[in-house]
Amino acid sequence: MEIVRTISWMKQAARDARRQERVIGLVPTMGALHEGHLSLVREAQKQCSPVIVSIFVNPKQFGPGEDLAKYPRTFEADRQALENAGVDYAFVPPAEEMYPAGFRTSVTVEGLSERLEGRSRPGHFRGVATVVLKLFEIVQPHFAFFGRKDAQQALILRQMASDLNLDAQMVLCPIIREADGLALSSRNAYLKGEERRAATALYRSLEATRREIGAGERDVARLLGAMRSVMEAAPGVALDYAEIVDADRFEPAVGLRKACYALIAARVGTTRLIDNALIEPEGDTIRVTV
Ligand code: PAJ
Repeated sequence: MEIVRTISWMKQAARDARRQERVIGLVPTMGALHEGHLSLVREAQKQCSPVIVSIFVNPKQFGPGEDLAKYPRTFEADRQALENAGVDYAFVPPAEEMYPAGFRTSVTVEGLSERLEGRSRPGHFRGVATVVLKLFEIVQPHFAFFGRKDAQQALILRQMASDLNLDAQMVLCPIIREADGLALSSRNAYLKGEERRAATALYRSLEATRREIGAGERDVARLLGAMRSVMEAAPGVALDYAEIVDADRFEPAVGLRKACYALIAARVGTTRLIDNALIEPEGDTIRVTV
């Protein structure tokens, strides 16, 4: 595996791969890699060669008072994991390489970026869209792989790619979970003692939704009630939002006749976690994927 730290070198390698008619796959990450990230890498390897994994803790997507300074940085373990996985390139630019002095441009995907995660984290999605557009320009991927764990992020990036006529095709991959259901996240490393157990409340509230739908419940308000009551019963867990939104616009869903997401965000101690379930009509029934 080649470790690339400069934009010019990464661009050259990508250009060479394109010239050889190879199919470039990009997996953007902020490092502190776990099985969720590695599942994206494996999916990329099925379709692409070379596979390029970017590791960049993007300062522009952290708000003031968020965890930029303490975000886990585990480069040596990440490098080893990517090496073992057979990744071709790790693109690990320093912050000054991505945002040199005088950097002034940002990308805003209007409307979709202000709700839900965007309301709790103003400016977050502007930072995400800006860095991902830069990564796409540098790497020129044919395919880019994202996790459904960050469903709103994936929707916003897909909108950006469509609006700006980007060539990269986005691939959305399933959520990887711990045995007790907690969605893998680099931020899980912050959970201490009892918090780790309490953190399963997000998964349990999505499972409650799945059970209710399985039992025939179709009323969005009652489903939200079930989600929220699981969260309220969990000690040390402060719900930020629980919503059911349509899958194409992330507007509050009126029913379950079209694909929707049940979205949940909460603070466990000082750690902010998100999770979701995909709700899809399938003939006469409804399939819920947690
Ligand atoms: P990061 O949180 O490191 O996540 C990188 C990718 O891994 C994202 O597409 C995310 O959805 C996916 N991912 C995280 N946890 C997952 C899990 N449990 N199962 C499956 N996929 C999972 O998301 C970001 O970084 C950044 O915003 C980024 C897109 C890199 C831009 O800076």
